[in-house]
Amino acid sequence: MMKAKILVTGGAGYIGSHTVVELVNNGFEPIIVDDFRNSDRGVLNGLKEITGQDIQVLSVDICDKKALFEALEDVNALGVIHFAAYKAVGESVQNPLKYYENNIGGLVNMLAWSREKKINNFIFSSSCTVYGEPKNVKEVSEEMATGIANSPYGETKVIGETILRDFKKSGEDMNIVALRYFNPIGAHPSSFLGELPLGKPNNLLPYITQTAIGIHHELTVFGNDYDTIDGTCVRDYIHVVDLAIAHVKALQFLTKYSSSTVEFVNVGTGKGTSVLEMIQLFEKVSNQQLGWKFGPRRDGDVTEIYANPLKANNLLGWIPKYSVEDAVLHAWNWEQKLRKNE
Ligand code: UFG
Repeated sequence: MMKAKILVTGGAGYIGSHTVVELVNNGFEPIIVDDFRNSDRGVLNGLKEITGQDIQVLSVDICDKKALFEALEDVNALGVIHFAAYKAVGESVQNPLKYYENNIGGLVNMLAWSREKKINNFIFSSSCTVYGEPKNVKEVSEEMATGIANSPYGETKVIGETILRDFKKSGEDMNIVALRYFNPIGAHPSSFLGELPLGKPNNLLPYITQTAIGIHHELTVFGNDYDTIDGTCVRDYIHVVDLAIAHVKALQFLTKYSSSTVEFVNVGTGKGTSVLEMIQLFEKVSNQQLGWKFGPRRDGDVTEIYANPLKANNLLGWIPKYSVEDAVLHAWNWEQKLRKNE
C-alpha cells in the first residue's frame, strides 16, 4: 500500500524532526520542507539512525512564494504540518518585522499552496503565548480569551490563529488543527535527536544542560518574588516526543473527520513545574550540583501557566507518556552526547 505523504515545513527543527520520526512510526511518509536557516543538516543523520530511512527534503524558503510553488510543483500530500517559523521572544521585540514577515508570510503561502493542491488537512504550530498573562487563573482552557500575547512572536501566533479562522469562515474545504504548545523540552530517548539552540539559549532547560556541561558559568534564575509556590515562574513542560505524537493524533483526527473543522487544542500535561523545581529535577537525574543564582525578573515573563489538557485527551485521544523527569534526563543524555562528538 502507498504510504500517505505528509509535508512537514520546518521538519529539520526541534519539534519538526521529532514529529517526522513519529510520522514514520505511524506509517506516514513525511517530506521535509526546510531551508536550514535555523537548523542543522546533521539532523538528517539522526533521522536516518532512528527511522532507518532517508527522508525526502526539499530545501526552499517558504516565504518566497514563487520558489515554493516551483519546488513543490510535483508534490502531493494528504496533509501539511506547518512548523517553519521564528520563535525567539526577545529577538521578536528587537526586530518585529522579521517575525511578522516570516511567520505570517510563511503561513499564508502554505495555506495558498494547500488550497491550490486541494490538500485539506492542515496542522499549525500555535503556542500557549496566545493566552498572554491569564487573569486570576493558572490553568488555561481553549475557550478562554486570546489576543493579548506579550511579544511580536506571540502576536504572530494570535494572528496565525485568526488567519486560520477567517480562511475557514470563507468556506474553504479545509480541516485545521492549531496546537497550542506549552513548554517543549527533552530529546529523543535514543539521543539521536534533540534541541540544537543556535548561540546562547533563551530557554531554561538547554541553559541548564549547557551550564552543567561547562559552556556557561552558571544559570541565572529570572526572579524570586513571583506569587508562586517558591517565588519562581511556573510552566507546563512537555516532552518533545509527546508533543510530536500529538501532531500524529491531530492528523489522524483530521483525516477521519468527515465535515470540515478548525480546532484549537492545548498540548500540555496539566501540571506546573517551577524554575527551582526544574533545577532540583536536573540535579537528581544528573547526579550533580548545578551552579545558579537569582537575578532580576525577565521582561514579559508570565507568572504561572499550565494547560487544561482535556480537549487533547478527549478529541485527539492524546495522553502524554513521559514525565518531566524523563524529559530532563533525555535532554541531559542528549547534551552529553553532543559534546562528546565535538
Ligand atoms: N528562565 C530562567 N533562566 C534562564 C531561562 C529561563 O530563569 O536562563 C525561566 C524563565 O524566566 C521562565 C522559565 O524559566 O520563568 C521558562 O522560560 P523559557 O524561556 O524556557 O520558556 P517561556 O515559558 O518563557 O517560553 C516558552 C516558549 C516561547 C513561548 C512561551 C509562551 O519558548 O516560544 O513559552 O509562554 F512564547
